[in-house]
Amino acid sequence: MGRPLRPEVGAAVRLGEAPPATDAAVELRLKSLYYGDFRAVRDTDLTIRRHSVTALIGPSGCGKSTVLRSINRMNDLVRGFRLDGEVRFRGRDVYGKGVDPAAVRRGIGMVFQQPNPFAMSVARNVAFGLRLNGVRGGLDDKVEQALRGAALWDEVKDGLHKSALALSGGQQQRLCIARAIATEPEVVLMDEPCSAIDPVATLKIEELIAALKAKYTIAIVTHNLQQARGPGESTRPEPVATPISCARRASAGCPTRAGLGDSRRRRRSRPDARPPRGGRGRGSRPAGAWGAAR
Ligand SMILES: Nc1ncnc2c1ncn2[C@@H]1O[C@H](COP(=O)(O)OP(=O)(O)O)[C@@H](O)[C@H]1O
Ligand SMILES: [Mg+2]
Repeated sequence: MGRPLRPEVGAAVRLGEAPPATDAAVELRLKSLYYGDFRAVRDTDLTIRRHSVTALIGPSGCGKSTVLRSINRMNDLVRGFRLDGEVRFRGRDVYGKGVDPAAVRRGIGMVFQQPNPFAMSVARNVAFGLRLNGVRGGLDDKVEQALRGAALWDEVKDGLHKSALALSGGQQQRLCIARAIATEPEVVLMDEPCSAIDPVATLKIEELIAALKAKYTIAIVTHNLQQARGPGESTRPEPVATPISCARRASAGCPTRAGLGDSRRRRRSRPDARPPRGGRGRGSRPAGAWGAAR
């Protein structure tokens, strides 16, 4: 066969109208994304509209997470990752010369598939990014605001100094959302945020995603288009669901993980397995020089 997966998937899932160019929060023009010699994604263009929920869909292994993580340079943490193309945010290519990846991540936050609270209190989890960014004053208020924004405040307000690890899976994921929005990013990336939690907790997060859209721009990897749309939103503008082009030939078994490095190497190189660092990546310049939070 040798066809890219995109045309037929795209025909089935393209929802809604093409966004006006000025409405773009992030624009991706990706020729290739590589892990070492392995070309994981090819020829993927995507415009993420402001205050919308954009769903990245496609079969398992086709590169959804790879594309999502490339938006805020999380893949920089994976050895051998290489991008050919550009990701435009705030008028610049985030992979451009002199751009600080830490500054990019302040503007584009991320929530992972597995809730990954740090082994510290609820409050410290939420304040983590703020502290990293040098915020000292008004932390309590900012923590409360973020927890309210993540629809978690009422459940944790009496246990702010208890360990985040004692929360349920769904609460942990909302805590991770609170942590992501505490620094007031413009865009929040979510990689299958409900795949590891129960249906009731999923419902809460779906409602939350629909509400967050008013303040943030969301890009989400999901198998559930209703999740992208949000409950009760069927009459509102539809999300744009974007299929990802798998670089592997369909006949070679695109959705499989054949031909990969061993699983231990993959686990070690999972970017969500580590707490974020304030450090700079290649070709960086001082934090805050570009892309500081609004
Ligand atoms: N750290 C990595 N090293 C090497 N290959 C990887 C790594 N992460 C993902 N891949 C491979 O890249 C392809 C796309 O993976 P991924 O983006 O996780 O797919 P999806 O999220 O759509 O399931 C798959 O073939 C996957 O096995
Ligand atoms: Mg994935």
